[in-house]
Amino acid sequence: MQIAIDGPAGSGKSTIAKLVATKLGFIYCDTGAMYRTATVMALRKNLPLDDEAAIMDQLKDLTITFKPSAEGQLVFMDGEDVTLAIREPDATNNVSQVSALPQVRENMVARQREIAANNDIVMDGRDIGTTVLPNAEVKVFMVASVATRAQRRHKENVEKGIMTSVADLEKEIAERDRKDSSRAVSPLRKAADAVEIDSSNMTIDEEVAEILTLVKTRRGAN
Ligand code: DC
Repeated sequence: MQIAIDGPAGSGKSTIAKLVATKLGFIYCDTGAMYRTATVMALRKNLPLDDEAAIMDQLKDLTITFKPSAEGQLVFMDGEDVTLAIREPDATNNVSQVSALPQVRENMVARQREIAANNDIVMDGRDIGTTVLPNAEVKVFMVASVATRAQRRHKENVEKGIMTSVADLEKEIAERDRKDSSRAVSPLRKAADAVEIDSSNMTIDEEVAEILTLVKTRRGAN
């Protein structure tokens, strides 16, 4: 079974997706982490972020892998642990530009479909239900207010020792929403058959329960 969870930055989708995957014994794929890894690679190699050919040249042979650990899922770039590096402000502030490049998206979508091909999976991102896995049995579109999302990101950052103000995060989130929704290729948008969940006033347990109910209904329908 494929479960697609899309939504804007900080909507809580990765927290929920991870929990749903654990409950069901499915693998979890964080596609945002893949775009972030491509961004870290481009920044480290000092590639101009609008030079698609140069980025593709390096990206085509780059390995991006996930590994479960006691502290959550780890992300590796050519074998190097970049779990923390991909959350640094430098990566966060530049990932919209890199993820807007059509060939980068094409490359990532192919990798994501390959991961999903042989596994029961929960995949989260922006274009999973619309583009990556259009036949996913369960599609969820998660939303939450900008204020709620900035508070959540702030808490996450503090836990990771990254210092950012809530006001800056609100601006950053609103700006990323604008870029992610207005880009030409695979903009953030709800799939016609996705169920929208507004998590602003829901607990994590309630959100997970709602998705598990969708899964149960879908299984019952087959
Ligand atoms: O979910 P996140 O904040 O880690 O995502 C990082 C960026 O990657 C975000 O700006 C949008 C982009 N992204 C995308 O374009 N498509 C996806 N499937 C996942 C993320």
